Order: sequence, then C-alpha cells, then structure tokens
Amino acid sequence: MIIGKALWKPLVQKMVAGQARRFRMLRQRPQWPGRLTAPGLYLHVPFCKNLCPYCPYNRVPYDEELFAVYERAVKQEIDLYASYLEGQTFGSLYIGGGTPTVNWRGLVSILDHLQRRIPKMGNICVELHPANMDDDCLSALKEMGVTMLSIGVESTTDATLERIQRSHDSRTALQAVTRAMGMGFDSVNVDLMFALPGQSLPEWERDVATVVGLGIDQLSTYPMFSFPYSDLGQTHGIRQVKRPPHRRVKAMLDFTDDHCTRHGLSRCAVWSWLKPGKGKFSSITRHHYVGFGPSAATMTGSDFYVNSFDVSAYASRLPAARPVAVSMPVYPRLAMAYWLYWRMYELQLSHADFRSVFGPTASLDAEFGSVLRPLVWMGLLARTPDGYRVTTSGAYWIHRLQNEYSLSYINHLWGTCRKEPWPEEVIL
Ligand SMILES: C[S@@+](CC[C@H](N)C(=O)[O-])C[C@H]1O[C@@H](n2cnc3c(N)ncnc32)[C@H](O)[C@@H]1O
Ligand code: SF4
Repeated sequence: MIIGKALWKPLVQKMVAGQARRFRMLRQRPQWPGRLTAPGLYLHVPFCKNLCPYCPYNRVPYDEELFAVYERAVKQEIDLYASYLEGQTFGSLYIGGGTPTVNWRGLVSILDHLQRRIPKMGNICVELHPANMDDDCLSALKEMGVTMLSIGVESTTDATLERIQRSHDSRTALQAVTRAMGMGFDSVNVDLMFALPGQSLPEWERDVATVVGLGIDQLSTYPMFSFPYSDLGQTHGIRQVKRPPHRRVKAMLDFTDDHCTRHGLSRCAVWSWLKPGKGKFSSITRHHYVGFGPSAATMTGSDFYVNSFDVSAYASRLPAARPVAVSMPVYPRLAMAYWLYWRMYELQLSHADFRSVFGPTASLDAEFGSVLRPLVWMGLLARTPDGYRVTTSGAYWIHRLQNEYSLSYINHLWGTCRKEPWPEEVIL
C-alpha cells in the first residue's frame, strides 16, 4: 500500500490538479479576501469537556480562563475581516469544534458579534455534543437564528460508546436528538461512526435503524479515520487499531444506503443521506469560505490558509494581525480540482455549476474530460442531462480514496500544526 500510494498519489494529483510535486504551505501572509464566489463562513470552537482519544480535530480540555482569551480574540479576528467582507452575502455559517456549546453563553455572545459585523448570512449550523445541549442552550441557539443542528451520537450501543471512550450513553444521545427535533429547528442531522474496532454488521444495522426511526432529517456516517497523530494513534500505534475488513465496511455502507432509501432519505454525499426538501448540513463543501478561530481554514480566490492551532498563540497575534499559520496560493487549475473533489463527494457534477463558478466559457469536459471519461467507462460515473452523477459503486470508491489519499493531506497539515503554533512550512 505504501508503494502504491507513493506511485499513485502524484499521478492522480498531476491529472486532477496539474502538479505532481507535493503542495507546500509556507509561513507567509496571504492576500485579504476580495469578492468571493458562493461563499460560506466557518467558526471553530476548540474546546471539549472530555477529549475522545480517536478525535483528529483541534481541541483542548475546556478551561474557563482560556475560553475567555479565545472569546476576546475571535471577536477581534471578526473585526479585522469585517471591512473586507462588507456587502457580501454568505450562504451559511457553520460552527464546528471541538464542542461549540461547551460554554453556550460565550458562543451566543460570539454569534451576536458576528451577526452585527457580517449581517448577510443564510443558514446557521451548529455541531452539538449530546452531553452539552440542555434545553436552555437549545432555546438560546434558536433565538439567535440557528437553523440546523448536527448531533454526535456516534453509536447507539453502550459497549461501543464505552470502548471509544465517549462521555455519554446511548439513552442520553437519543433523548438529546428527540429534544432537539421537538424544538422546531429547520433540520437535525445525526452523526454515526462506522468501521469502529470490534463493531459488527448487525450492531451497525441497529444503529442506523434506531436513529432513522427517530425521524431525523439527515444522517451522516463517518468511517473511523485513523490519524497517526491522534491520541489513539500515538498510544496504540495506528497499525494496531484493528479496523473491520473492507468487505464488512462495504456491507455497512450498502445497508445504510438501502435502509435510508427505503425510509425516505436519499443519498446527498458519499457519507450522508437527506430527507427531500431539507437543506444539507455540510461544513466545507462551499467553494469559498472564511474561517475564524484557532485552526480554522480559509479558501479565497487567491489563497488557501489555516490559522494557528494553539489558542494562546492564535490570540497573541490579535488584534494587530491575522493569526495565519501557513498558507499557499491557489492557482486556477487547483481551484478547479478543489471544486471537482467536493462535487464528487456530493455525488453531482453539473456543467452549469462549473460555469457559474469559473465563468461562462469554462468547460468541465475540456478541463477534466480525460479524468471523467474513464470513470464513466468503469461505471463509477453516469452521464446526466446536466453533467455527471456518481454511481453507488463510484461512491464506494470515493469512500476508499478518502481514507487512503485525501486524509493524508489533512494528516500532514493538522499533524504539523498541532505540534508547532507557527510552522516554517508544511509539505502536504
Ligand atoms: C466535532 S465532532 C461533533 C461534535 C461533538 N464534538 C461531538 O463529538 O459530539 C464531529 C464529528 O466527527 C466525527 N469524528 C470524530 N472523530 C472521528 C474519526 N477519528 N473518524 C471519523 N469520524 C470522526 C464524529 O462523528 C463527530 O460527531
Ligand atoms: S469527537 Fe467531539 S467531543 Fe470528542 S474530542 Fe472530538 S470534538 Fe471533542
């Protein structure tokens, strides 16, 4: 697999992004965002009450004083951007973590600040942990205009929740979902994790049937990603973490697709199923986005960059300058490759959307025909009147590719940025 990856990664990268050489992100100052295309906003809250050992996200144990430092700094960061973003409309604000509601009064205060500075935003989506979402918290979020929630249930099996060291049991998680659904938010998504060590197919089938049976609007399922730098990777060594065999993982995905389809949810992404007429809860599938908070990423027409991961380092740069750790310029072909990647993940590639993002003369087939035609021939893509649709077997192979290749970019970036607040460079 290591030899395979060494050969295939540059080849695939060359075909899609036009460059075989590994990408380098450097300690340099990116341009300020100008006029953005179909943009979204992201806010990162890097605190949790209990740190799950498998979790790759940037998070530290909740500490009241450090949260106050974070809250002050993130408001200053928003102020720095406000004049550059003035007049632009953002399709959504996604608040992720960590556990965004770990101090929900603090979150409400940041959200209030953000809405005053950047008033034109659409859906507001918040990630929730089942143990940090009491009724007062949910009412406050509703009052602030939050429209979509995503709850980390992960499993409905207590023994599995214990094995992965979650701090809640299944009953608490399912009750939390029911409470959230009763409060009239536009959409409630549930996250489940599959391909967990020791997880059987019947157990997974029960998990899916239980949460779909609650009448949720969206189900997102994530195969356990094994990041070497996570606590799990460091203490057990990632090769010792026994994942179920590929055959069982495929059976899990096939069951999920079949069960969701039979219960009125259709597949809206490789790992998500959605009720018709509902908006999709999705964090980074926007073309352009601006991120606030430690480790938040920003993608503009000219640059891709990430903030420092360390809360104190991040705060120390503000209010004088943006707390950007590393960045890289985005050349036109790379922006197209990025579009292709996320549209594949969302299972639809439309000529009209490609033109709306890259200009009226841009052609999806002229740019990517040599990549797309073989995929059609292999049955992984099907042509539609307006472009291409990823087939069920195509979705399975994107799932495999995500695990084998794409996550390695994230692993290099997050692995380095977690160790050093201001790295000299990161080679992806
Ligand atoms: C930031 S967490 C969600 C909110 C909250 N912190 C929680 O854990 O409930 C986002 C989601 O990422 C998924 N996740 C976390 N670690 C993962 C891993 N190693 N592999 C796959 N999915 C993971 C879980 O499904 C989790 O709900
Ligand atoms: S999975 Fe959620 S609760 Fe657990 S450490 Fe990660 S962000 Fe925090």
